[in-house]
Amino acid sequence: MIQLHQVSKLYGSNIPALSDISLTIPKGEFVFVTGPSGAGKTTLLKLIFSSERPSQGEIVVDGVNIARIKQSAIPYFRRKIGVVFQDFKLINSKTVYDNVAFTLDIVGTQRKIVKKKVWQVLKWVGLLPKKDSYPPCLSGGEQQRVAIARAIINNPVLLLADEPTGNLDPDLALEIMKLLKAINARGTTIVIATHNQAMAQRFSDNIITLAHGQIQTNSQ
Ligand SMILES: Nc1ncnc2c1ncn2[C@@H]1O[C@H](COP(=O)(O)OP(=O)(O)O)[C@@H](O)[C@H]1O
Ligand SMILES: [Mg+2]
Repeated sequence: MIQLHQVSKLYGSNIPALSDISLTIPKGEFVFVTGPSGAGKTTLLKLIFSSERPSQGEIVVDGVNIARIKQSAIPYFRRKIGVVFQDFKLINSKTVYDNVAFTLDIVGTQRKIVKKKVWQVLKWVGLLPKKDSYPPCLSGGEQQRVAIARAIINNPVLLLADEPTGNLDPDLALEIMKLLKAINARGTTIVIATHNQAMAQRFSDNIITLAHGQIQTNSQ
């Protein structure tokens, strides 16, 4: 699903955020990227999502060489990837339903199909009863479940999650991890960045550890 070959990323001119990263993540995996703050976890996800370009090296995601992708092809490429962030990034002035429907509306999906898909996914994450609520009225765990529903509504082949449990207390974090596991069980490849080593070890044997932009161990 994901291959990186000798990838480096420099933001400024001095210390690279990532240097000489080579890795393979097969389809269907549930992988963690761990390491302390500043290790390069977010940068790695951004490169995979093509929101940053590598300074060097090759990146292939689901058969697409994204080091060479045309700017105009990026939106189409991103449709097959779901993303979830630590701070949820929900629109507070829109209902739960509209937050989730949003990505389908902008690609011009028929109203009836949007409704069916949104109901299905909200039911699946256990939030159908909250469909008319606004994000500020929800708990952190519920807000993250809305963000996950939004990320998976297009049945992405790949889900990228950057510190998805970073703002949640342990119980809710566990609930979110279980939800991500269930999404993985349906066939979606999942890559989770977290500084929480214990969480990673609890949920997967497949852990990529970064320090100072380099891979420390790779238990694939
Ligand atoms: N947009 C940016 N501009 C300049 N430096 C950045 C930028 N984003 C990240 N960095 C730097 O790259 C390094 C890796 O950051 P990041 O990928 O966010 O690490 P992590 O997610 O593991 O905390 C850090 O030294 C950080 O300061
Ligand atoms: Mg980060």
